[in-house]
Formats: sequence, C-alpha cells, structure tokens
Amino acid sequence: MTTSGERRSHWQRVWTTRRPDAVSWFEPDAARSLDLIVGVARAPGAAIIDVGGGASVLVDGLLAAGFRNLTVLDVSVAALDVSRARIGSAASNVRWLEADVITVDLAPREFDVWHDRAVFHFLTDSRDRDRYVDLLAKSLRAGGHVVMATFASDGPEQCSGMQVTRYDAAGLADALGTSFELVRHQRAVHATPGGASQSFLYALLRRRDQGG
Ligand SMILES: C[S@@+](CC[C@H](N)C(=O)[O-])C[C@H]1O[C@@H](n2cnc3c(N)ncnc32)[C@H](O)[C@@H]1O
Repeated sequence: MTTSGERRSHWQRVWTTRRPDAVSWFEPDAARSLDLIVGVARAPGAAIIDVGGGASVLVDGLLAAGFRNLTVLDVSVAALDVSRARIGSAASNVRWLEADVITVDLAPREFDVWHDRAVFHFLTDSRDRDRYVDLLAKSLRAGGHVVMATFASDGPEQCSGMQVTRYDAAGLADALGTSFELVRHQRAVHATPGGASQSFLYALLRRRDQGG
C-alpha cells in the first residue's frame, strides 16, 4: 500500500463494509485523547485537528467540552459521513476534510493541537513519515502540542490487514524529529470489540519555539 489512491480505496472499503463500532480500534469514548487535549488546549477557540479521525467520538467529546475550532481530516469520506450523521446539526460547526495526510497541504501555523490515534503507525515508508512530519511541523504553531497514540512496542504488528511500525516513547520522539519535545507519555491497553487487548503508547509532544 503506497499510493494515495490505494490508501483511499482501502479505507473506503473498510468504512463501507464494517460497522463503525465493530472495527478493532473502536472505543466508546475517547477519554485518554480528550484528557490530553483538554490539558493543553484551554481556550475554547483553540484550533484542534484530528488527523485520521475516522468515525471516532473524539469530536463529540471536544464539542461537548466547548471547543469550537475543530477540524477532522480523513482519507475516507465514508468515515467522515458516519461522524457527521451521528453528530447531527452540530456537525456544521466542524470542518470536515476528506484528504490524505501524506499529500494534503494545510495552512502554516494553523493548529494549536494535532491529534492522531492509530494513523502515523501505518506509515512504514520513511518518505511518507518525512512528508507527515514536515506537514505537522509546518501547520502546528510554535508551542502547540501533538497528542499521538500508536501501537506500543509490544502492541500488534498489524492493523486492518496492514503492517504497522510500533513505538516506544523515545522511538516516537525520534521519528517526529527535533522540532518536537516529548512532554510526557503513558501506556494504555485498548480492549477491542472482539475481546483482544492491544498495547498503545500515548504521547504528548510540544512544538519547539524555533527550528523545523
Ligand atoms: C485505525 S483507524 C483510527 C481512527 C480514529 N483515529 C480512531 O482512533 O478511532 C485509522 C484512520 O485513519 C484514516 N487514514 C489512514 N491513512 C490515512 C491517511 N494517509 N490520511 C488520512 N487518513 C488516513 C483511516 O481512514 C481511518 O479512519
């Protein structure tokens, strides 16, 4: 899986053939992500993007917490449609971007918080990771934060039929490069709808004031 078209086809197939609450990454709430975001994005106007947000209920939690500058980006419009339908009229207060994070362009220094749960770990090609990191460094404001969740070093080797790269905190900080400093991290065990346990790493990083 290398091209943008292949990524789109794969994820469109997933989101049009699987029930959103039956996919392995489903969580009935997004409490861990929400806690980390709320801890750094105190103003209601903070610009927050959920990259590869899929059908996650994180956006519901952010709306309920009073945030009003929210963007959800996903390569699958079917995933975005699930969230839009669930949220109803409040969906018009969210910017929905159907795009591939590897190829999309975003405005410079647009975001205060960048959230990614279980997307970056699919980037097993270093060129894709480089593109992702360049975009992240460009579109996050100096002093802004990244909340990233990946499979931990003892987590699954695959997700949705694809190889993933697993990370410990030092490895993830290294992968994101010198524009970011690791603030803190925690491990978490995710219970899948199928009854399996998956080890995740949650990391909070800060965009340095200079460089990158
Ligand atoms: C494992 S799911 C995680 C979904 C969501 N973050 C969550 O925690 O429930 C990965 C999501 O990323 C999206 N995705 C995968 N590769 C992507 C890319 N290159 N650009 C944008 N979205 C992508 C998929 O469509 C899917 O919704």
